[in-house]
Amino acid sequence: MPRDWITSLLDNMIGVGDMVLLEPLSEDSFIENLRKRFDHNEIYTYIGSVVISMNPYRSLPIFTPEKVEEYRNRNFYELSPHIYALADEAYRSLRDQDKDQCILITGESGAGKTEASKLVMSYVAAVCGKGQEVNKVKEQLLQSNPVLEAFGNAKTVRNDNSSRFGKYMDIEFDFKGDPLGGVISNYLLEKSRVVKQPRGERNFHVFYQLLSGASDDTLKKLKLDRDFSKYNYLSLDSAVVNGLDDAANFRTVRNAMQIVGFMEDEVQSVLELVAAVLKLGDIEFKPESRCNGTDESRIKDKNDLKEMCELLGIEQSVLERAFSYRTVEARLEKVSTTLNVAQAYYARDALAKNLYSRLFSWLVTRINESIKVTRHKVMGVLDIYGFEIFEDNSFEQFIINYCNEKLQQIFIELTLREEQEEYVREGIEWTNIEYFNNAIICDLIENHQNGILAMLDEECLRPGTVTDETFLDKLNTICAEHQHFESRLSKNSKFLTDHSLPHNCFRIQHYAGKVLYRAEGFVDKNNDLLYRDLSQAMYKANHSLIKQLFPEGNPAKVNLKRPPTAGFQFRASVGTLMKNLQTKNPNYIRCIKPNDKKASHIFTDSLVCHQVRYLGLMENVRVRRAGYAFRQAYEPCLERYKMLCKRTWPHWRGPAREGVEVLMADLPVPAEEFSYGRSKIFIRNPRTLFFLEERRRQCLQDLATLIQKIYRGWKCRSHFLLLKKSQIVVAAWYRRYAQEKKYQKIKSATTVVQSYTRGWQVRREYRKFFRANAGKKIYDFTIQRIMQKYFLGLKSTMPSVSPIDKSWPANPYRFLDGVHTELRRIFHLWRCKKYRSQFTEEKKAVYEEKLEASEIFKDKKALYPSSVSQPFKGDYLEISKNPKYQKLHSAVDEKVLLADVVNKINRANGKGTARIFLLTKKSVVLADQKTGQVKASVPLPDLASVSVSTQSDGFFALRLKEGSASAVKGDFLLSSDHLIEIITKLHRTGATAADSEQLDIDISDEFLLQFKHDKVCVKFIQGAPKNGNSVSCKRKNNRLLEVSVPTTA
Ligand SMILES: Nc1ncnc2c1ncn2[C@@H]1O[C@H](COP(=O)(O)OP(=O)(O)OP(=O)(O)O)[C@@H](O)[C@H]1O
Ligand SMILES: [Mg+2]
Repeated sequence: MPRDWITSLLDNMIGVGDMVLLEPLSEDSFIENLRKRFDHNEIYTYIGSVVISMNPYRSLPIFTPEKVEEYRNRNFYELSPHIYALADEAYRSLRDQDKDQCILITGESGAGKTEASKLVMSYVAAVCGKGQEVNKVKEQLLQSNPVLEAFGNAKTVRNDNSSRFGKYMDIEFDFKGDPLGGVISNYLLEKSRVVKQPRGERNFHVFYQLLSGASDDTLKKLKLDRDFSKYNYLSLDSAVVNGLDDAANFRTVRNAMQIVGFMEDEVQSVLELVAAVLKLGDIEFKPESRCNGTDESRIKDKNDLKEMCELLGIEQSVLERAFSYRTVEARLEKVSTTLNVAQAYYARDALAKNLYSRLFSWLVTRINESIKVTRHKVMGVLDIYGFEIFEDNSFEQFIINYCNEKLQQIFIELTLREEQEEYVREGIEWTNIEYFNNAIICDLIENHQNGILAMLDEECLRPGTVTDETFLDKLNTICAEHQHFESRLSKNSKFLTDHSLPHNCFRIQHYAGKVLYRAEGFVDKNNDLLYRDLSQAMYKANHSLIKQLFPEGNPAKVNLKRPPTAGFQFRASVGTLMKNLQTKNPNYIRCIKPNDKKASHIFTDSLVCHQVRYLGLMENVRVRRAGYAFRQAYEPCLERYKMLCKRTWPHWRGPAREGVEVLMADLPVPAEEFSYGRSKIFIRNPRTLFFLEERRRQCLQDLATLIQKIYRGWKCRSHFLLLKKSQIVVAAWYRRYAQEKKYQKIKSATTVVQSYTRGWQVRREYRKFFRANAGKKIYDFTIQRIMQKYFLGLKSTMPSVSPIDKSWPANPYRFLDGVHTELRRIFHLWRCKKYRSQFTEEKKAVYEEKLEASEIFKDKKALYPSSVSQPFKGDYLEISKNPKYQKLHSAVDEKVLLADVVNKINRANGKGTARIFLLTKKSVVLADQKTGQVKASVPLPDLASVSVSTQSDGFFALRLKEGSASAVKGDFLLSSDHLIEIITKLHRTGATAADSEQLDIDISDEFLLQFKHDKVCVKFIQGAPKNGNSVSCKRKNNRLLEVSVPTTA
């Protein structure tokens, strides 16, 4: 919830929310204020920290979850008065300050105590921790209410749901404020109600709930009938209560029992006991006269007894006997007497009451088993039966009112007396406020020597005849002088004529009014006698729960001592309760009922006024107004508020009191608002406290902001420092990197500059050398490299050394074309030379001749190619060896260079005649082939020329020099197969022989020959191959000799 605006109970106030602020303060204005607020549905009003609660008798929309949220963690005086504010305050001081709390809810019957206690519990359950386990505990605690209310509440004339027992519940919390469990203490159930109810009232709710809500099946099992009228113990006139749905409530109760942790068979046993009580009420007795004149009782109709015994597993005869006899054991004796009808009824009712009240106590124990835990922090909620005044008040009312008296006492103790005493103790200036202290009434009732309860016990324990009258007598004697005791028969003459005071009654002036008690029944009820026969009969039952409820029936544990009386027990338990409450921080809710009619919107002034008076509310306001709303020891006060002053914050190094004085002086609080006691400071007004709290809250907020600020600053600074550190590292690395980069750049630039400079220097120095030669050098080097490469390439691709091998590697460089060709040529020459160097002289001569032949004829005569392959033999006729030519050989004194057979063409007809042709160094000799006779010998110098044709014929003409000796015979026309050889040798010999000019070789297809006297033209023509391949020669006329040479293919 946002707290940007500060609320207060003063906002939109109807009347005043806190009676302390009432002006003027009088009873009338007090009541008027209550009325005004009540009319505006403001049912809660404060007196300081005490909450006055008016019963609205209708549901108001102020108990919603939203309201719970609104009041949660809010300052007590911050919002309009509410029971939630008190619950929140109690819960928070329990949780935060570890102070055990108790919530004391007082008020008369029907004022709304039970409702208030439930509201407190539900508020605490809503605001405390959540979680599976915690929720289970909460549920169990809350659900214990419907169970206990069903068995312990009843409709009375004052209240439709009146608590007929006292209940104090300790809710236990862990250190976090989560509920762990609880313990319930119950105080004296009004058990007389089980057997008898005053007019207009009902028995306990559970009977009606069972009969209306249980299924037919269940009822059958319990041997019950739905009809209320069948049961004597159920009063009929108010069996049905408006606005109370018994059937629905039965389901709620069963469900609650399940949640609290009752097992199914336990629930069944409980219902069986409830049914048994109803059955018990229906058992009736009739008198039967015995021979000794006494009356003995007999059971009228045994059917009910039978059914009840079946329900509880009791042997019928055992119970029947227990209703007829009473055994009294005294030391060693056992005396059995018969019961008369009245005694039998008494026994029956006693059994019913005991059965029921023990069942109720068992229920509480059983619930405690489910919710009990070890003690931690405790918040106690006390919801006890309220002060009540009936027409007919008996022992129960006496007990109830005594209890309320005690509660008033504790209220007075803690709020009025204690407060005033504290002022005195602390040395605070104080004018005493008068108030009525009911200690005197408490003393009248509970004094151990002469208190009413003590005297009642005395009477009950006294031997001899004891009746209610003897008890009253005793009271009359002993209490006669007591201001608050009134009785007709007391020695106090005041009441002798008081007719409103019957003889068999006594009256007590309680703090809340006078109550008339009828003495009848006091002794019995206090004795709470259950005949041992009955308890023994119960113990024998075959029913585990019944057995548990009557442990004294165990024959093995017979105890002859009288059990403590009801009054004694109650006084003891109230005493324990009071001690318990005094150890806790009390929170008061004072309930007031606005009318007697259980109606909404009705505000009966007199009734309210009465309650205001006896509750001592006026005194409460006066003390509160005169006194101080708040006090606190100096140390915790200083500790709590020291941040409000600079001098005390953060440490005060002196006595706490001085610290508080300094602190308060520093604050804008009027001096009359507080006083300094010996050990405590007293603050007059809640407003002042509220102001302090508010300032403290603001200061805490500021401190939190400061802490937050410093923390944030620290966090940011550390973060910043970290960033800075990182930045330095990053920057360092980056700078290093950048510098490195820059350095490298400079370095490389320097190197460049340096190299340029050096280059420049060197170049300047070496320019003279460098410039002139470098190009050439490079060029030479390159060329060298190329050449090297070229030659190495050539070396690996050289053709073979055979002179006829025509291959030659391709030239890789154009510019080496010349070289390449030259090399090829050289290589060729070289390999030719190499080839030639292998030749012998003869072979060499042969080749020389061949070479000469080539020079003469190559491409000039068609016959030449065919001669190339023919070796030049020279001496075909082996002239020197052949004897046939001996003569001839000898005739020729020169060495014969060539000897062959040739055809000498006849000049006349062109026919050929075979002749031996010899060539020597000096001459050419023609001789007859057969005889070897020399026909003609021509010295070489006489030869002018030799003529041959261009064609493939073997004709040749030897032309003689004119005028020479040989010329007489005329030129010779010859034909040979070895023409080429003959001509070549002739040419060679002719050249060397006569040192003359070389012999002309005339190659043409037409030449003139001198035949004796005539000049004849020899003409070569291409002839058709008429006569095979042979060449034919014909004398055409005197001047023409025609040689026809066949064409060669
Ligand atoms: N705050 C409330 N809002 C609405 N109705 C209420 C409130 N308080 C009490 N009542 C009504 O008043 C009736 C009686 O209240 P409650 O049972 O709490 O009285 P009591 O003080 O416990 O009486 P007793 O002493 O007899 O037990 C309730 O049944 C309910 O109808
Ligand atoms: Mg109640």
